[in-house]
Amino acid sequence: MPIYNLKVNGQSHAVEADQDTPLLWVLRDHLNMVGTKFGCGIGQCGACTIHLDGSATRSCLLQVSMVDDMEITTIEGLSEDGGHPVQQAWKEVDVPQCGYCQAGQIMTAASFLSQNNTPDTSEIRDAMSGNICRCAAYNRIEKAVAVAATKMK
Ligand code: FES
Ligand code: FES
Repeated sequence: MPIYNLKVNGQSHAVEADQDTPLLWVLRDHLNMVGTKFGCGIGQCGACTIHLDGSATRSCLLQVSMVDDMEITTIEGLSEDGGHPVQQAWKEVDVPQCGYCQAGQIMTAASFLSQNNTPDTSEIRDAMSGNICRCAAYNRIEKAVAVAATKMK
C-alpha cells in the first residue's frame, strides 16, 4: 500500500492506506482522532467537517491521496485548550445537546468567521445550513456563531 505524508494539526504523520481511503477513516482509524464524526458518508450532513488549508471541507468525501502534503486541521487542533473564540462561544451559549454534530458545526463556524467576522443572521444561517443537527439545536448554534463573531472582531 502507498504511504502518504499527512500534516494534521501541525504534525506530520506517515500513513499507509489505499489511495481511495476516505480521510475521515484515516483520521479516526489510523490516527485515533475521533473528534471528527461519521454521519452520512456522502457529504450531506457536515459531521465530518475539517479544515483543509483553512477551508471547511468534508473529510468523508476526500480520498487520502488527495490531501498529501496539505494542511489538515481537526477539532482536536482548532486550539490547544478549547479556547478558540468559537469554542468559547459554544460553551457560553451551552449549544450541544447529544453533541454528535458539534465538532463539524464548530469547524464550519470557525472557517466561516475567519472570512467574515461581521455576519448578519442570514449569512450565519446560510454558512451553517449544510450542517445537520438531529437534536435541532439550530437556534443555539446561530446564537453561538453570532457571539463568536463579536469575539473575533
Ligand atoms: Fe461527511 Fe456526513 S459524514 S458529510
Ligand atoms: Fe445532537 Fe447536534 S447536538 S446532533
